[in-house]
Amino acid sequence: MLKKLKIFLSYISPFVTNRASEYNGNLKIMLVNGKKVLNTKDANYSFASLHRIMRFALTQTGFDSREDILLLWLGGWSVIDLIRNEFHLPNTIRAVDIDPVIIEVARQEFALDSYADVEIICQDAYNFVQETPKKHGLIIIDLFINNTVPEKFYDDIFWENIFRILSPTGRIIFNTMTKTTKGELFGTIITRLKTVGFQVEVHDKVDFTNSMILAKRR
Ligand SMILES: C[S@@+](CC[C@H](N)C(=O)[O-])C[C@H]1O[C@@H](n2cnc3c(N)ncnc32)[C@H](O)[C@@H]1O
Repeated sequence: MLKKLKIFLSYISPFVTNRASEYNGNLKIMLVNGKKVLNTKDANYSFASLHRIMRFALTQTGFDSREDILLLWLGGWSVIDLIRNEFHLPNTIRAVDIDPVIIEVARQEFALDSYADVEIICQDAYNFVQETPKKHGLIIIDLFINNTVPEKFYDDIFWENIFRILSPTGRIIFNTMTKTTKGELFGTIITRLKTVGFQVEVHDKVDFTNSMILAKRR
């Protein structure tokens, strides 16, 4: 009853729970208009604009193989909800996030464990891609601290490892926020992908805020 009342009242004024995180600063879990979303100071981490952005990317990518999916980030995991409930893909999902608080919030506030065949790894994605032997059919890279992608995720070592753990027919989705991304860094990824034989699509102003690279091996 209380839960239903809270959902009803959230249409009048949002309910906000704050969680402090060493990596992501203040995390705001908001119940607004009957829906829970996860925000940081300057960015939506899940179930609002990011949900729309990832729905666009998954639709554009047209991924339908049964190979494993690697998510480099977890956030509030709204993409797992999309993959399972909208795109109806049963694939094994591996999600890597550096922040134990994010993983705890995803479990406590967003019922992450209600999904089957989802492996959660608490690790720096930069190290994970260097260590894992597993191959993936789709790799979604959405690594942000607040509204900025850490620069190490533009470097050679990271991308060499991404290519190593991507299957021969694999696809990549790389998400950034247009206003906080240095154009030349974004450009280096496009050049790198084309140089090693990927077909590359660039989508700017996705949901008015994000720039995305969609790539697949030729
Ligand atoms: C925008 S959120 C991802 C939201 C997600 N796309 C979703 O659908 O809910 C960015 C995530 O990247 C994680 N992150 C940032 N740096 C990282 C790193 N070095 N290794 C792993 N995860 C990292 C943050 O903890 C945060 O959870």
